[in-house]
Amino acid sequence: MRLSPFRKKSFVGLDLGSHAIKAVQLERTATGWRVTRHSTTPTPEGAIKDGVVIDGDAVTESIRRLLKSGHIHATCANIGVAGATVVVRNVRIPKMPEATLRKSIRFEAGRYVPTSVEDSFIEFEILGYPDDGQMDVLIVAAPKDVVESRVKACQAAGLEVEVVDLEPFASYRALVETDAEHDWAEKTVAIVDIGAHTTSVSVVSKGVFSMTRAIPQGGSTLTGALKQYFKLTDADAESGKTQLDFRELLSDAPQENPPLRVLQPHVDELIREIRRSLNYYQSQQTDAGQPNPVTQVLLSGGSAKMNGLAGYMSQKLALEVTPLGVFDNPRFLVTEDEGHGLEMSVASGLAMRAFARAA
Ligand SMILES: Nc1ncnc2c1ncn2[C@@H]1O[C@H](COP(=O)(O)OP(=O)(O)OP(=O)(O)O)[C@@H](O)[C@H]1O
Ligand SMILES: [Mg+2]
Repeated sequence: MRLSPFRKKSFVGLDLGSHAIKAVQLERTATGWRVTRHSTTPTPEGAIKDGVVIDGDAVTESIRRLLKSGHIHATCANIGVAGATVVVRNVRIPKMPEATLRKSIRFEAGRYVPTSVEDSFIEFEILGYPDDGQMDVLIVAAPKDVVESRVKACQAAGLEVEVVDLEPFASYRALVETDAEHDWAEKTVAIVDIGAHTTSVSVVSKGVFSMTRAIPQGGSTLTGALKQYFKLTDADAESGKTQLDFRELLSDAPQENPPLRVLQPHVDELIREIRRSLNYYQSQQTDAGQPNPVTQVLLSGGSAKMNGLAGYMSQKLALEVTPLGVFDNPRFLVTEDEGHGLEMSVASGLAMRAFARAA
């Protein structure tokens, strides 16, 4: 069979996580999106580390398997990048034409990128012009090896990569920007994605990303702690974790629960890091004379499934914490009861890039 050069493009949103690879395919409807396919498969152990695909063959094989088992036919993938090495900065610099900034962006970005800018892809977006001859710019820098290794694994699985986006941008698109039930897009919210190895914290104020930070902790930190303390296998530690309920730690007379006691310091440390990020955001706002506090934390990612975690975090942070899955957003039509889709928001937000912007 000869492939027509005019073969129609079809898209899949592909979230290459360190623990699981998630795929979502969407169709546009009059009011939102129909989730035509979604599927997930475990990431081969150690195959994706710090955002980089280390074992390309294993990841390619998993993508192929995922597409096949999920009955997903696609020619193109929209993928994301995230993690501690991806830098997102909202900076104020002297006002200049966009073309001039494009020429000097590597120099500007060099102040924020810990590694060499030569080894990074750099993008920017002008956010606005405060009155004093300055401008606000969002700078994004992603290491080339993160992007290129991901693109390569997709290509080897037969998918052309159409869009490389930031994971927090994808989550925001799927969870907040298009949400029909709440007014979060008008407020200052924190989107916290707790994955396996990384927790990403973004503060978004009326649609503007004010801060994005990656904390190198997540569900695997907890699984590892259980595994080590109780000498369990990976599978037993994983399933043991799902049986626990963090609300027990809040009760007046906490029931003696050794596994919870083992996890508590790790969860507390993660919550402290999240608090530190929110405090950093807050101090910058106060310096700029525009206090705009976070009023709501939206919790996503696979580890947001941990029983009672939102309630526990809410108590510790003294903020409202809501676990939020993409299938909770009524603008996504799912055929059956698919659960909340807590870990599917990145893949969904990536899949949405296949369509013209429609909030
Ligand atoms: N029911 C559950 N209860 C507790 N934890 C869960 C549950 N389901 C999944 N997890 C945890 O969620 C994590 C995987 O989440 P997710 O798929 O969002 O991670 P990932 O995107 O692959 O990782 P990362 O973003 O860090 O690269 C694992 O640590 C897993 O143990
Ligand atoms: Mg993830």
